Amino acid sequence: MSFKVPRGTQDILPGESAKWQRVEEIIRDLCRVYRYDEIRTPMFESTELFTRSVGETTDVVQKEMYTFEDRGGRSLTLRPEGTAAVVRSYVEHKMFGSPDQPVKLSYVGPMFRYERQQAGRYRQFVQFGVEAIGSDDPAIDAEVISLAMDVYEQAGLTDIKLVINSLGDKETRDNHRAALVAHFEPAIGEFCSDCQSRLAKNPLRILDCKKDHAHPLMATAPKLTDYLTESAAAYFADVKMYLDTLGIAYEVDPNLVRGLDYYNHTAFEIMSTASGFGAITTLCGGGRYNGLTKEIGGPDAAGIGFAMSIERLLLALEAEGKSLDLHNALDVYIVAMDEAAKVKAVELASTFRTKGIAAEIDYAQRKMKAQMKAADRLQAKFVLILGETELQQQVAAVKEMATGEQQAVAFSDLVTYLQDKLGGQA
Ligand code: HAM
Repeated sequence: MSFKVPRGTQDILPGESAKWQRVEEIIRDLCRVYRYDEIRTPMFESTELFTRSVGETTDVVQKEMYTFEDRGGRSLTLRPEGTAAVVRSYVEHKMFGSPDQPVKLSYVGPMFRYERQQAGRYRQFVQFGVEAIGSDDPAIDAEVISLAMDVYEQAGLTDIKLVINSLGDKETRDNHRAALVAHFEPAIGEFCSDCQSRLAKNPLRILDCKKDHAHPLMATAPKLTDYLTESAAAYFADVKMYLDTLGIAYEVDPNLVRGLDYYNHTAFEIMSTASGFGAITTLCGGGRYNGLTKEIGGPDAAGIGFAMSIERLLLALEAEGKSLDLHNALDVYIVAMDEAAKVKAVELASTFRTKGIAAEIDYAQRKMKAQMKAADRLQAKFVLILGETELQQQVAAVKEMATGEQQAVAFSDLVTYLQDKLGGQA
């Protein structure tokens, strides 16, 4: 019997995990400077939370949720996304009562969607997301977008573009909805059964259909932007003005509708334009969801956020042929030539580690040459060589790998010597 990871999931192996840690470090640093505090919510929530917020007619709710009944007969769902839970928590913990509005929150964690496996699409994936709840200032829309763009920039991506749209307010959407029904109704028989049921429930979702996207009526469908009310149009203009102020380039795409129901006003996606990238080019998606707090039982509050998967960020880097600056090289590898030297190596490694110097020694009884090779593979910055002579003289032969320079350093001076040299390299 042999086992494999479940379809649509992956093991992040050593080497690969260093990339994840680097991305998470970029994210943590940016969330600190933008002041988005971390929130951790459970991996599962009541199913009803997602049907109400993400929306009953969406693919996520209809086809992709991992829903199960627990032993107490409750219907629970592994979270397919993070916004619903964060908004639930905002309401449950009465964060709306804090004088510091908007409340700015961030999260990194696994999400689960039963999707068809393909490049960039997993059944368990890790989203980094932020939510700013409690403000309808267009400047915060621009801040949220700017944070997402900064993550990609700091990771080293250059082939990306920001696409934005406005989904307007309730009046905008009601008028647009009526126009969509009038547009699709006469030919709805030519569409898939999902679209047929969407016509009455949520015709906007038709534009998002993966099966019927090539139908000629799709291209000629009434555009939401043509139905924007004056105040919604003014809001959108302000968001664009702030993006211009921040020097963030964007394209307006009137066909951008998002796959989840809670959105209104600003909607945006960041895509990879790298030629090697697969069919799914969206790296990040987000938008405004004013009123979602009310929908799930709280007071009416405005909110905006985004989420991006770390998987797609790493795929985009690969497509651009870029690698992250991992700063994970080993500081020092200690080569021991005999048993007595091995004991000293164990002692020195321990001393180095307590001083924050990354140190490794040989545990496989390898000969000196093989130990030197191991040091190379680990990209050690320094190699310390300990033999009989060195022990007698209480010194180590220290080789700086970048320059090939070698010098004898007294045991008592090793920590300061390495700290000086490593500090200079940082
Ligand atoms: P979403 O567009 O469903 O939005 O997902 C956001 C991002 O999650 C996608 O752009 C992609 O990077 C990643 N993603 C989604 N599904 C998969 C998958 N199967 N495999 C790999 N990556 C995936 C949301 O989830 C909203 N909660 C975003 C948001 C936050 N809006 C406002 N606040």
